[in-house]
Amino acid sequence: MATTKTSIATLQKMKKEGTKISSLTAYDSSFAKLMTEQGVDFILVGDSLGNVVQGRDSTVPVTTDDMVYHTQCVRRGASDAFVIADMPFMTYSTPEQAYEVAGRLMQAGANMVKLEGGQWLVETIEGLKTRGIPVCAHLGLLPQSVNVLGGYKVQGKEQQQADDTLNQALLLEKAGAQLLVLECVPASLGKRITEQLSIPTIGIGAGADTDGQILVMHDMLGMNSDYLPKFAKDFLGQGGSLADAFRSFAEQVRSGEFPTSEHSYK
Ligand code: KIV
Repeated sequence: MATTKTSIATLQKMKKEGTKISSLTAYDSSFAKLMTEQGVDFILVGDSLGNVVQGRDSTVPVTTDDMVYHTQCVRRGASDAFVIADMPFMTYSTPEQAYEVAGRLMQAGANMVKLEGGQWLVETIEGLKTRGIPVCAHLGLLPQSVNVLGGYKVQGKEQQQADDTLNQALLLEKAGAQLLVLECVPASLGKRITEQLSIPTIGIGAGADTDGQILVMHDMLGMNSDYLPKFAKDFLGQGGSLADAFRSFAEQVRSGEFPTSEHSYK
């Protein structure tokens, strides 16, 4: 495991002090270095690399070897950064399988691993933490489950589903998750979960009240000319350099200028 300047304790302190946390995905050393220099608080080596790097239509085909390779690249470029690596689809079906894959990602340079799902992950999260592997949980829209969900849709719009998501979040925190990504849920649910959890929440399309924000780098650089998700903003399209775009993202998250209600779901 890499030892970095930012740690989970830093993020926890930011939550306590009400300082918003900024995060972006990165998949290589150059972008990882640049965004870290511009003040982005942590990096996720997302399995979204399946979409934006490999040109696939989902994250399902991404392998552990892919994630190890890109985590190593990111770590080389940003030795001081707090780096989270996604566990790929079907690599944490059992706790034992999860320990092996998570071990590889930590040895590749991750400081924490991220898993998508709720209550069924309790035993795995407890086991990972006991073995020295910090866990970021991921609730709301779960891209690895796109085939079950039938598409990329906002989650937690019904009261029952919202209550269920909150209960799952509490269970995962209790199991030992130290960070929670909340993807595409109504802003009111993002707020509710953030208020009830003591671990930091990081939203992507979860409204302005989560403890931090994350975007896929390619979205915030406006690289897909056909489509910009509602929750994203093109920071490069405003003019300036790549460095300016990363700095502006970090500053706008910190100041609360991003996201607005325009980027949130009701
Ligand atoms: O893989 C990824 O980029 C993610 C973000 C959507 C949070 O999990």
